[in-house]
Amino acid sequence: MKNKSLVSITDFSKSDYLKILDLAESYERKPVSELLTGKVIATLFFEPSTRTRLSFESAVNRMGGRIIGFSDSSSSSVTKGETLYDTINVVSNYCDLIVMRHPLEGSARFASEIATVPVINAGDGANQHPTQTLLDLYSIKKTQGKLDDLTLFMVGDLKYGRTVHSLLMAMSQFNTTFHFISPEELKMPEEYKILLRTLGLKYHEHKDYTDIITEADIIYMTRVQKERFSDPIEYERTKNAYVLKNKMLTHTKENLKILHPLPRVNEIDQDVDVNPKAYYFTQVLNGVYIRQAIISSILGLC
Ligand code: CP
Repeated sequence: MKNKSLVSITDFSKSDYLKILDLAESYERKPVSELLTGKVIATLFFEPSTRTRLSFESAVNRMGGRIIGFSDSSSSSVTKGETLYDTINVVSNYCDLIVMRHPLEGSARFASEIATVPVINAGDGANQHPTQTLLDLYSIKKTQGKLDDLTLFMVGDLKYGRTVHSLLMAMSQFNTTFHFISPEELKMPEEYKILLRTLGLKYHEHKDYTDIITEADIIYMTRVQKERFSDPIEYERTKNAYVLKNKMLTHTKENLKILHPLPRVNEIDQDVDVNPKAYYFTQVLNGVYIRQAIISSILGLC
């Protein structure tokens, strides 16, 4: 992993994931260190973020490193017409590692090919969000005691949701049974279903899941992403398709956990928050430990 960019979840192997999860456990036990003393991490966010940017910055601060960057590209020279190529070339001179979010699919791969320092993809359009996936794996392992042989429900926007695409690819290595629940317009893209068929894994597609919710070990809820729609009428038609309510959880498995990459809009009713099966707010804390593990692995400091 040393000096390697993390652009797609497939850039790391299954054994890399497991090493990162083990390392995250050690950061959970002892989050504060001086491991990053003298290191500078650039966070370039061309698209809004709360959790990803702040948890990366929290991770760096807890390890004694320094942060440079921007949370809004309107405060950078992009507004003067500077290209991504030039921006990455320039920022490479100022830091040891770049963390970048960008609305264009493929932009993180492009940046990693230009940069002279490793690049971590913090989300590129509807494509990939690999660090979210590692924190999701950590959350699943922590709550289920294992990653293998689980039944994973993915609910909501499976077409544009980069977190579900990355999570599907990672969980496909752990003999997962997948259930995809989405409106017709937001179905899981064919390429991901082909991958599962090729691996001989089971997946099922549904428009409704109230009758089968008792089978789930993990329900991974997602937001219908307004910013990905070119047609606002299509967004309005689909935005209330699935709202999880506490009463729906009555006969679910004891070990069930509800995950969500957040932000949520209305797809999980607030009455679910008090249910011990709701895990999404602990999931965000896991993001700090995982990002500490990713940064220190890529910088070869552990
Ligand atoms: N989960 C996630 O990517 O959240 P942010 O958009 O707030 O970073």
